[in-house]
This record gives sequence, C-alpha cells and structure tokens, in this order.
Amino acid sequence: MHLYSVVLFLHIVVVLLAFGLSSSLHAGEWGGHRATTVAELRVYRRTARLEPLFPLFTVLLFVLGAWLVHLSHGSWEYGDAWVSASIAALVVLLVVGGAVLAPRSKVAGAALAAAPEGPIDPALRAVLNDRISWQMGHLNTGMAIAVIYLMTSKPGAAGSIVALIIGAAAGFAIGTVGASKQSAVQPSMTAI
Ligand code: HEM
Repeated sequence: MHLYSVVLFLHIVVVLLAFGLSSSLHAGEWGGHRATTVAELRVYRRTARLEPLFPLFTVLLFVLGAWLVHLSHGSWEYGDAWVSASIAALVVLLVVGGAVLAPRSKVAGAALAAAPEGPIDPALRAVLNDRISWQMGHLNTGMAIAVIYLMTSKPGAAGSIVALIIGAAAGFAIGTVGASKQSAVQPSMTAI
C-alpha cells in the first residue's frame, strides 16, 4: 500500500470525526427546543464539551493535507486554486470557531451548568439560542462541505471561490432559519 493512500485515509478519518462532532452539535441545537427541563437540555447539549477538539481537527486536516501535497510529487501544488482556497477556508474556520463560537459556547455552557434543575428559564433559552452562534456555526459547516467539493472536483480560482461563498451563504441561511424557529417555539415551550 502506498504511503499516499494511508495519509489520504487518515485525512478522511479526520474529516469524518469533525463532521461527526458538528452533526452531533447541530442535532443538539435543532432538537434542544423539545427539551422542557434543564436536565433534558443538558442531554441535548452534552457533546458541546468536545468543541475544543475542532482546532485540533483543523490542524490535523492541514498537516495531513500538506503531507498529501508533498507526497503527490508535483501533481498538486500550493499554487493550485483548490489547495490555496481550502487553506484560506481552514483559516476562516479557525478564526470563526475561536473568536466567535468558542466564547459564546463558554457562556452558554456556564449558564447551563449553573441553571437549577426544573423548567427552563426563558433567559437560559435566550443564551442557548444565540443567533450569531447559530448563523456562524452553520456557516462553518457549510464552508467545510464546500471544501469537500474543492477536494473532489479541484476547480480553478473562480470555481473555488464561488463554491466557498455558496457553502458559507447556505450555512448562514440555514443557521438563520434555525435561530428564528427556536425563537418562534420559545414562548409556547416555556408556557408548558
Ligand atoms: C475543511 C478542510 C478539509 C476537508 C473537509 C478535506 C476533505 C478532503 C476529502 C474528503 C478528500 C478526499 C477527496 C478524494 O479522494 O477525491 C481530500 C483529499 C485531499 N485533500 Fe483535503 N480536506 C480539507 C483540507 C485540506 C487542506 C488544507 C489541504 C492542503 C493543504 C488538503 C489537501 C488534500 C489533498 C492533496 C487531497 C488528495 C486529493 C486527491 O488525491 O485527489 N485538504 N480532502
């Protein structure tokens, strides 16, 4: 077996781990409105404590991707639009994750940890349904899906940029819809 295939396998394993974690986080976000007690909400949000793994996944994706570029002996180069665009996308993922999502998630986690057992206080719901977290979290996922298109189709500069913009915009739009739905169900849930 070629080393290239092994490194590609590891690269894809990290992709699966990262998407597995983000799917679980999104499932907790989208399902959280069904929770009527703080204990239930803690179950929906239980994988949030694994969020600090995202920077590690990002670094691993870069290291393994760069190794693949090296092992390809010139088939792929950093000058290729799909490679440089995916590196730029990784930087965006890191910055959004570290500067926007992580601090908000810390606040939400602390509020949930401090909440007394029983029905969910509207103020706690408001902290957990933070619109920017919804929008930017989904933006990151959409952009990461667009990077998969870059990896598999290897488009030129225009195609790479358009794909990343479409992925990010679609993610942002889905996050906006999700945040609005949560706020819409909030009053009825708290009335139960
Ligand atoms: C969010 C970040 C990333 C994701 C989700 C991702 C995903 C993937 C996937 C799914 C493949 C398999 C494609 C296929 O076999 O057709 C792949 C291959 C590859 N990736 Fe990435 N990747 C990411 C970042 C990077 C970065 C930053 C680099 C370069 C520094 C890179 C370099 C490569 C290379 C060279 C291949 C092999 C392409 C081939 O053999 O056809 N990746 N990536």
